[in-house]
Amino acid sequence: MSQVEVSADATKTKVAEEIKFDILAGVPAGGNELKRSQIARTFISQIALVPTKEMYEYALFASLGDDVYHEPSTVQVALEAHVAKITGKEAGLFMPSGTMSNQIGLRTHLMQPPYTILFIMIFYCRYEVGGAGFHSGAALTPVIPSNGHHLTRKDVENNIIYGPDVHFAPTEVIALENTLNGTIFPQDEIIAISEFARSKGIKMHLDGARIWHVAAETGTSLHELLEPFDTASLCFSKGLGAPIGSCLVGPKEYITRARRIRKLFGGGMRQTGILAGAAAYALTHNFPLLHRVHVLTIKLQKSFEDIGVTILSPAETCMIFYDAASIGSTYDEIAERGEALPEPLFLGGSRVVLHIQTSEAAVDDFIKLIATIAEEKRKAGFVNSAVQANGHQDVYVRRTH
Ligand SMILES: Cc1ncc(COP(=O)(O)O)c(C=O)c1O
Repeated sequence: MSQVEVSADATKTKVAEEIKFDILAGVPAGGNELKRSQIARTFISQIALVPTKEMYEYALFASLGDDVYHEPSTVQVALEAHVAKITGKEAGLFMPSGTMSNQIGLRTHLMQPPYTILFIMIFYCRYEVGGAGFHSGAALTPVIPSNGHHLTRKDVENNIIYGPDVHFAPTEVIALENTLNGTIFPQDEIIAISEFARSKGIKMHLDGARIWHVAAETGTSLHELLEPFDTASLCFSKGLGAPIGSCLVGPKEYITRARRIRKLFGGGMRQTGILAGAAAYALTHNFPLLHRVHVLTIKLQKSFEDIGVTILSPAETCMIFYDAASIGSTYDEIAERGEALPEPLFLGGSRVVLHIQTSEAAVDDFIKLIATIAEEKRKAGFVNSAVQANGHQDVYVRRTH
């Protein structure tokens, strides 16, 4: 029993009344169940994935240590060590987001400007808010794969900057992405690029937000997949369904510097155990579900092809890109019709993404919707005479509204 006398103080009580907030009171009964059922029918992004009750229950038991102090007993330290081990790197650093993990990953490599980062033209350039220029003061060389699928050593050789010419900022890092738009980067080409990079003293960084899909699909260990890279960022929140969290891996001394930069960027966290616990749950229970996602994606693609839909980028893991115009429709029309179904479907533009919470019934309904629209258009006189997409087009077409 506490011996401290606490007298009622009207002013303090008033302040406490103002501050308090029952967030659950505003949640409609069954709201989360509705959300879960919508997620099972959302094909827009893997980000739609949400943590499950089982994941949270597991994570509740995670230890309570402090992340910034890097207390050895914390589960986040154990998670970092585990991810470092399975990726064959010396150390790991838990990050709140994939963006921060990539940005700090690059910043830590770059010591003394001027320098250039050679990017595969996709995530870093377009969707990380120009962060590499802002945070690292780096010039960027975005390279579009000449074969329309993945960068080759030749692409890299043609775009790399090195040598004594003072007009140019030398390439210091090559940053690749795997999977890229759901496609798998051939490992032998990565090795060829890496050998070339190493011969020029250039570092290799991987945005491996979705590398889990490559491991699941090819049966290749993360260690082998990441061997050609000095550093990599892996996300627990993308295909694996943890609420947030990524891990940067690399040499010990590099990760020590990255930890300091993470603090500098305001990314030092406190009791991250619950997040690390959710990530560990995702590795154990959700990684094995990825293969089913890939099989479902192939099923969807085959059915689309049977209907006459042009596939702009075929399924290699969990995504396809399709051309709505090939059945005489638009992405907006298809998405609006999907949303109007008795059990709505949530659709974006050309990109169709499946994930571990996608239901097979939703896939079947999507196929039926496309078949119905295609049939209507055919009856109305539509004939597909469109020129097939070539590899240099951006296959990711978003809805207009
Ligand atoms: C390949 C890739 N890298 C990085 C990110 C950024 O991750 P976050 O949203 O956690 O910042 C994303 C997000 O979708 C991604 O797809």
